[in-house]
This record gives sequence, C-alpha cells and structure tokens, in this order.
Amino acid sequence: MIDPGSFKLWNSTAMAAHLSYLDPDELIVEGEGVRVRDAGGRWFLDARSGFWNVTLGYRHPALVAAVREQVERLSYGSMWGYGRPTGIAVECAAALASRLPEGIEHIRFQSNGAQAVETAALLSRHVRLLEGQPHKNTVVSMWGGFHGFGPGASALTGLPYLHYHAGPLLPEVIHVPGPHAPGGEEAFASILGDYGPERISAVVVEPVIGEGGHVLGRDYLHRLAAFCREHDIHLVVDEVTTGMGRVGAYTRCEQLGLTPDLLLLGKGLTSGYAGVSAVCLSERIYRTLYDAPLERFFAAGSTHDGHPVALGAALAVLDVLADGEVFANVAEQGKRLHTGLQEIAARHPSVTAVRGTGLMYAVEFAEAAAQDPWFVNKVRLAAEDRGVLVAVLNAVPALMVIPPLVVEQGDVDEICAALDGALSALADGWSPPDPAKGFV
Ligand SMILES: Cc1ncc(COP(=O)(O)O)c(C=O)c1O
Repeated sequence: MIDPGSFKLWNSTAMAAHLSYLDPDELIVEGEGVRVRDAGGRWFLDARSGFWNVTLGYRHPALVAAVREQVERLSYGSMWGYGRPTGIAVECAAALASRLPEGIEHIRFQSNGAQAVETAALLSRHVRLLEGQPHKNTVVSMWGGFHGFGPGASALTGLPYLHYHAGPLLPEVIHVPGPHAPGGEEAFASILGDYGPERISAVVVEPVIGEGGHVLGRDYLHRLAAFCREHDIHLVVDEVTTGMGRVGAYTRCEQLGLTPDLLLLGKGLTSGYAGVSAVCLSERIYRTLYDAPLERFFAAGSTHDGHPVALGAALAVLDVLADGEVFANVAEQGKRLHTGLQEIAARHPSVTAVRGTGLMYAVEFAEAAAQDPWFVNKVRLAAEDRGVLVAVLNAVPALMVIPPLVVEQGDVDEICAALDGALSALADGWSPPDPAKGFV
C-alpha cells in the first residue's frame, strides 16, 4: 500500500478515499489502442476513454508521430496578441473551421474545456458591453448540466453540490430545468420569459447532458435557438464531450442542423495527447469584436493556450477523422453497445435506464442506489475485476460507458459481458472488499 504521509501527489477530489487502498501495482503506466496497463502488468479495456477524451485510443501511430514532429519543430508559441501567431495555430484554425457548421467561421484556442466555457460567458458579456447593453449580462444554463470546474464553469454547471465548494462563484448565472425534467420541455422559454430576456446575454447547453446521458431533442434545441434569436440571446453549445466524433460526426450541431453563436470543443480535439480547447465563433460575434475600437480588447487567455504540440495533435486528429471511417464506426459500434446495454437492462432489474447516443451511454441504477449509496461504485469495481474500466457519475446514480471511438465489435462485447457479469455477481451477493474505493 502507498503511505498517505509520504504521498506527494494531490490531485484527487477525495484523497483519503484513494490512498487507503492505493496499491503501487495499480498505477496506470502504459496504453495501447483501447487498453491501458497497470504497473502490476494487468491490461484493462478503457471504456471511459481516459476522462472521456481519448477518442482515438493510446499509442496511435499518426498522433504519436505528429506530437513528436511538432515538439521537435516548435515546442512553444504564444497566442497572446497577434503580432506573430504560430503557423500551426493559423493552419489548425482553418482546418477546424472547415469541419464545423456553416456560419461558425473563427476559432479561439484555449487550454481546457472549463476555460472555454468561462471564455464563452465572458465573451458574450463583452459583446454586450461593446453593443452598449451592460445590463444584458445574465448567463443561463441547465440544472443537471456539467461545464467543468472553476469559478465560472462551476457556476454554469447545474449541479448544486458543486456550487458551495469554494464560496461565491461567477455572479449573474441562473439555471433552468432541462427538457428531461418533469415539465421541462417548456420551462426554458417560460422561465426565461418571466426572468426578462432583455437581461439575458447567453444560454449555455450541452446537446447531450453527460451527467445522465440525456439527449436533447432536435425540436427542443431548434425551439431554443429560435427563442434565442428572437430575444437576441447568444446560444452557446458546449460540445466539449460530444464534439470531434463522439456522437458520430464532428459536432452534434452538425447532425441537428444547428448553428450556435459560440460552439465549444475540447477533450477529443487532441484525443488526450495534449491539452487544448476551442471557442468557435459565429461570424456575427466575430464581426462585433473585429469592428470594436482597439482599446476595447477582450482580455482573456493563458500561457499555454493553443500550444503548438497540442495543435499538432489536433491536426492529426482532424486528418484521422477526414475519411469518415471513425464516424461510421461510432454509428455501428454505438448501435451494438446500445443494444447490448438494453439487453443487460432487460436481464437486470437494478438497471432503471439506458440513455445516450453515439458512443456515450449512461446506465442508471436509481432504485438500487437509493438503497445502497455505494451500489454504482460496486458495479464499477466489479466491472474492473472483469478487466473493464467505466466511469461513475457523481450527480446521478449511473455509470457512464464511453469507450474510445475506435472500439471494435469484440471490445463492445467484452464491455457488455463485463457489466453483465458484474451485475450478476452483485445480485448473487458479491461485494468488493471496500465499496468506497476510488468512488470519485
Ligand atoms: C460538457 C463539458 N464541458 C466542459 C467540460 C470541462 O472540460 P475540462 O475538464 O477540459 O476543463 C467537460 C468535462 O468533463 C464537459 O464534459
């Protein structure tokens, strides 16, 4: 066991819950394809894609080569100011914009998803200031949605348990129920109508809510877009998880024929080979910024934004996605996974719902978790015992099955067999030595 007193790393949310169980043999040390290996030599199928981001798998030859080449050619270049942007940033922005819905024409690179979300909120307000509408500054998001951590992103995240961790967050943020909540189909328009659309700068939504796999319908999103257009509200679509292939296309917006004012990408943009995110701007927003007087600049950014090595990885990802084979695989294997999970639900009464699209599915255990708060983690641990890593969702009693987009039929069957076996074992009374192990 690792000694908590001498352990220098502190990144985990609940360290005590980990260190008491952490065995040095369990550290992850290598990855290959859709699998990772621990120091003890055991390989696992990574059905959580790292942190939902390793879309093209580990040790992908094209990505490894692109990162290696870029680190040798230019290991850093600043995005601050445009006196001399890096060549690769200009190249990558053009390549990315060409894959996004028409009307999304300009790209701002940042470092991570939360920062992209915060930038979108601040950028929307900045545009209002430029327009002479300083009171149109409220940003609205959905209860149950997740947009990352940090004073802005946590505020927009609609999970109350995350709102009280560090004191006051970004002000002038409100939440409304999503269409999956009872009566939620009409809530957005009616609550926003009551609140006063003239005070609302932007609405931020995930097209598929990761915390629970709720797929927002085409009609709902188009009605929301129309409401936003009618009331001059910026529609921000957070595709940090759904973007870059996860739903079987570059974006969910593309699948739904939706053009937001701001579209946010992260995670799969580099398949996790390095950190970068993108705030993608509509022509309309861009024009306002472009036409603004020089002294009214948008002061936001960070040292490693648009890091050339990350952009090297992003260009390689775009290259791999270009022939559409990965998207076709998402459609085919996603269907197989969905069917497999539904069959599991039919066999195991503990499963109360299976929701999702593409290659992202939540498996919910509402009743079992109400009786046993560790139930979901126990399923995860039982699946891990069977060689498959899945994610636990904290806000809803569910697991997320979100494998790399390059899974093959045998991998999908392996994931389903592991979950099936895990649920049977739990029904037969099996319990892990400590059900709290690694619960966050
Ligand atoms: C929809 C969505 N937005 C934003 C984020 C935050 O991204 P990051 O973890 O890169 O800050 C996440 C991360 O899980 C996400 O799923």
